[in-house]
Amino acid sequence: MQTTSPLPALLEHNELMRNLQLRSRLDAAALRAEPAAPDTALRGTLRSAGEGKHLVPAGIAPAGTEPLESLLRRRASVRTYAPRPVAADVLAAVIDRAATFDREAWHDHDAGVELEFLVAARDVAGLPVGLYLYSPAGGGFTRLSDLPAGDAAAELVLQLEFAHAPAIVMVCGPLAASLDRHGEHGHRLLLTRAGAAAHTAWLTALDRGLVGSIFAGFLSSALKPLVPVDGYRSAQLLAFSCGHAAQAG
Ligand SMILES: Cc1cc2nc3c(=O)[nH]c(=O)nc-3n(C[C@H](O)[C@H](O)[C@H](O)COP(=O)(O)O)c2cc1C
Repeated sequence: MQTTSPLPALLEHNELMRNLQLRSRLDAAALRAEPAAPDTALRGTLRSAGEGKHLVPAGIAPAGTEPLESLLRRRASVRTYAPRPVAADVLAAVIDRAATFDREAWHDHDAGVELEFLVAARDVAGLPVGLYLYSPAGGGFTRLSDLPAGDAAAELVLQLEFAHAPAIVMVCGPLAASLDRHGEHGHRLLLTRAGAAAHTAWLTALDRGLVGSIFAGFLSSALKPLVPVDGYRSAQLLAFSCGHAAQAG
């Protein structure tokens, strides 16, 4: 007797992939079309989570004098740090440069598709341990939640070496708003923007005397109960961990 095999249905993933590729391809017409401002209901959720909460103001640490070429030459990923606090104005400079670069490079901000920057502060002078939203416009950090400590800190990340970093900057973005504005290409755009923002943060950190590493960030399942990052209206895209270099030898 002939039975119905589920195999043909399973094999349709090739067709699914082909459709995904077609839908996310940018053609000339899509490039010419002026993207629409997305529905405000699709905007990122982090800014409103910080509204009405106390903001810890922070200045912006001044730039160093080392030429960019030399910064680029000594850039290397560093994942363990000295037990020494990061200054709040240095951290503010790191995020402010990343946010400013993004604003200048992509004009999605005016349409409400701005990147959002979360900070896991474990050892930042002037900031009690916690999860903060950095507001470039407000020039400071708003505390959104506690940050699990001890063994629970290790549950937040896949790689243990990041669990106790003095500061982790998480680049988040409004995936829903970007998809509404750019179609499937919106996801790619957000990832590109996050990569550029994280690399800007990295170079700024080096310039201001810190070392760090780009990595995947908090596990979504661990981040979600702490702050409103649902992976759709606000999604964590990439992260940058930083601190002072551990003493050599
Ligand atoms: C998009 C992206 C995601 C990354 N994710 C991780 C990660 O989750 N964990 C990690 O250890 N390194 C990650 N890396 C790699 C490091 O940031 C770094 O680029 C790599 O270790 C190369 O080291 P180097 O810069 O010292 O040569 C990622 C890099 C990129 C560009």
